[in-house]
Amino acid sequence: MVNVDEFIEDATESIRDQIGDEHAIIALSGGVDSSVAATLAYEAVGEQLTPVYVDTGLMRKGETEQIADTFSFMESLRVVDARDRFFDALEGVVDPEEKRKVIGEQFIREFEREAKETDAQYLVQGTIYPDRIESEGNIKSHHNVGGLPDVVDFEGIVEPVRDLYKDEVREVARALGLESIIAERMPFPGPGLAVRVLGEVTPEKVQVARDACHVVEDETEKHDPWQAFAAVIGKGTGVKGDNRVHGWIVSVRSVESRDGMTARAQELPWDTLQRIQSRITGTNENVARVVYDVTHKPPATIEYE
Ligand code: XMP
Repeated sequence: MVNVDEFIEDATESIRDQIGDEHAIIALSGGVDSSVAATLAYEAVGEQLTPVYVDTGLMRKGETEQIADTFSFMESLRVVDARDRFFDALEGVVDPEEKRKVIGEQFIREFEREAKETDAQYLVQGTIYPDRIESEGNIKSHHNVGGLPDVVDFEGIVEPVRDLYKDEVREVARALGLESIIAERMPFPGPGLAVRVLGEVTPEKVQVARDACHVVEDETEKHDPWQAFAAVIGKGTGVKGDNRVHGWIVSVRSVESRDGMTARAQELPWDTLQRIQSRITGTNENVARVVYDVTHKPPATIEYE
């Protein structure tokens, strides 16, 4: 991308050309990619676009309220409360790829209903360049690529940021005037907190991961990581008062990266790590242990699943 303003002008013009007088729909995830794609499309075709935000129950703390608020200027915005349906669908599912599949399918079901109701002919997606590369390499099934177009009979797919890297998408977000909480927000996986709890996805584990992620984001902000989060990786023994308890083990990860393809574990100060530990164990009495992940990518991936 050479010039941001030129990119925005070209992108909106080509979206307008592609959609014409038809109706389009986009799944807003709260991430910077879909937010930029939605804003570009909204600038291009206005209320011909229906942005749909599905609350899967797997989102970050305060995210649903934040999205509803940030995009309230789009009158056509739909917020779908699908939390119970996602947790029901995920019951008993432990395999990471199976989780992604179940989430992807449930998402399609939710979205399909909305697409039919709005009679959308076009699907706008926030796919970026690294998504396409990883999907083509079949490293991990990204639920935000593919799937939807096969199920709903769209006339066309609109991917305004398909050739951009993450840092370029952020540049466009800033130029579009998207609030910094969106523009600077760190990447978050499509399947959400489901891939930050190892094993079965339960509301309890997701709540532990959500609170812990919030603490980690908050405490690491001044160290400017590319991505920082927490994951519930199992159970272990701890002591609470005079009792031995079997509580959750939360792993904290903070990495530096340009595009997520490779990453370096960040060397955080001890007092930051200790504050994170004390806030996480303090918030949730069922957390017995907090560990810090020092592994780079490769050999590890950024997320745990
Ligand atoms: P990994 O864990 O593969 O992650 O090193 C690389 C980057 O991609 C994000 N990620 C995902 N994003 N759907 C997404 O939209 C997914 O299924 C998914 N899995 C990982 C991850 O957060 C990191 O930024």
